[in-house]
Amino acid sequence: MAIIIDGKKISTLIKEEIKNQVEKIISKGGRAPHLAAVLVGEDGASLTYVSNKVASCKQVGFKSSLINLPYEIKEEKLLREITRLNNEKEVDGFIVQLPLPKHIDEDKVLLAINPKKDVDGFHPTNFGKMALNMETFVSATPYGIIELLKRYDIDTNGKHTVVIGRSNIVGRPISILMSRKAKLGNSTVTVVHSRTKNLKFFTNNADIIISALGVPNFLKANMVKNGVVIIDVGITRVKDLNKRKGYVLKGDADFESVKEKASYITPVPGGVGPMTIASLLQNTLKAYKINFEGSK
Ligand code: GUN
Repeated sequence: MAIIIDGKKISTLIKEEIKNQVEKIISKGGRAPHLAAVLVGEDGASLTYVSNKVASCKQVGFKSSLINLPYEIKEEKLLREITRLNNEKEVDGFIVQLPLPKHIDEDKVLLAINPKKDVDGFHPTNFGKMALNMETFVSATPYGIIELLKRYDIDTNGKHTVVIGRSNIVGRPISILMSRKAKLGNSTVTVVHSRTKNLKFFTNNADIIISALGVPNFLKANMVKNGVVIIDVGITRVKDLNKRKGYVLKGDADFESVKEKASYITPVPGGVGPMTIASLLQNTLKAYKINFEGSK
């Protein structure tokens, strides 16, 4: 029976730590760190994520701005908004919520963000620094996963980590972080994805599974070995008319069955999700220190 990794509790602790630091800054006469979030369109899930990010800013004493732009916005106009945020002295860091509408070139948008304000760590400069183990903004979800492993004292050294999914946001960066030469790393990493043959062979040989696939209940008990550590990044809305919202959130793991075999497992919700927000706040505080305090 697995130990359930409580991402909500850890994220609350991190937010407390951040709040204390903000109080110190304010008591010394400084201004509050400021995170801006750009949301294009009104996709329900994205709106929820962004609203949660903004609400969390309030909890720790940050200033926040939500810039909601219409779905039909022209790419040039979005790029102008990004330039404005790059130049806005009172904004320490900002994010552009993904995915963007199909008519907008995501790469162009991410490249337009000043790397010093890129608290999502999506700009190639920051992604490259992360890959080279240099100081940078590590993307919120991978950063949150590393923090969870650290705070639960889970040994990753020499372990076989299998990452399911190869997205730029989660799979690719976490596979790099888990293999780097570092106390929280030193893993032998296999990345499996939609084209992998006999995926079960790899998951059955994994000490740690990090799943970012987005297919509810994909990972079954017969796909994992006893004692495996499961980090479930999948958050999919599954229709459930018995619920007030009309849906439930499901992870990639068939939680009830795999928890009997795992040594540690993250639940959905309440596992990786809250950590993503805590990491974003940590990055924003870091941006404040670089861009504002560093410039005094
Ligand atoms: N879409 C899904 N996850 C993320 C994230 O961490 N940041 C942004 N900007 N968009 C996302």
